[in-house]
Amino acid sequence: MTPFQKKLIRASWAQVLPLADQPAVLFYQRLFQIDPSAQALFLDTDMVLQRKKLLQVLGVAVSSLDNLGALTKTVEDLGRRHAGYGVKDQHYDSVGAALLWTLEQKLGAGWTPDVALAWTEIYTLLAGVMRRATQDARLGIAKSAA
Ligand code: HEM
Repeated sequence: MTPFQKKLIRASWAQVLPLADQPAVLFYQRLFQIDPSAQALFLDTDMVLQRKKLLQVLGVAVSSLDNLGALTKTVEDLGRRHAGYGVKDQHYDSVGAALLWTLEQKLGAGWTPDVALAWTEIYTLLAGVMRRATQDARLGIAKSAA
């Protein structure tokens, strides 16, 4: 990720952040619309709290762009917990699509091809670490059940 891309992510996040809960509401609406199998995982979830947690983690990632390596362990732990939530690999594609779509809606003209690419890169990076950890944990769960 280039310094220019980091700048674009920080600037666009600063535009989304004052909208508080709104982008997160839109994100989950979109996710459940494009992937009903994802909605089934949140049946017992306090969505008000969940929206806060999601925004918080994304905020931490945005503030750590210069040192994402330091987040690896935290993100791996998060990915491992996702195996326990029933998350499958393909769900990460749905979450990525819903996230990018939400940012596009909220940023309007600010959603330029460069901004879109920068967000695609950061999501791919984070989700890559999470999906590996989720998969490893799922394998571990399968092994211990055998
Ligand atoms: C970069 C991608 C993602 C991020 C940053 C993220 C972030 C979070 C965070 C911070 C939590 C709170 C609980 C915890 O810390 O363990 C959480 C819970 C959860 N996430 Fe994710 N998540 C991501 C991807 C996904 C995907 C792909 C799915 C599948 C649809 C998913 C489904 C869930 C579920 C079902 C919970 C548990 C809700 C509950 O407590 O009832 N997440 N996620």
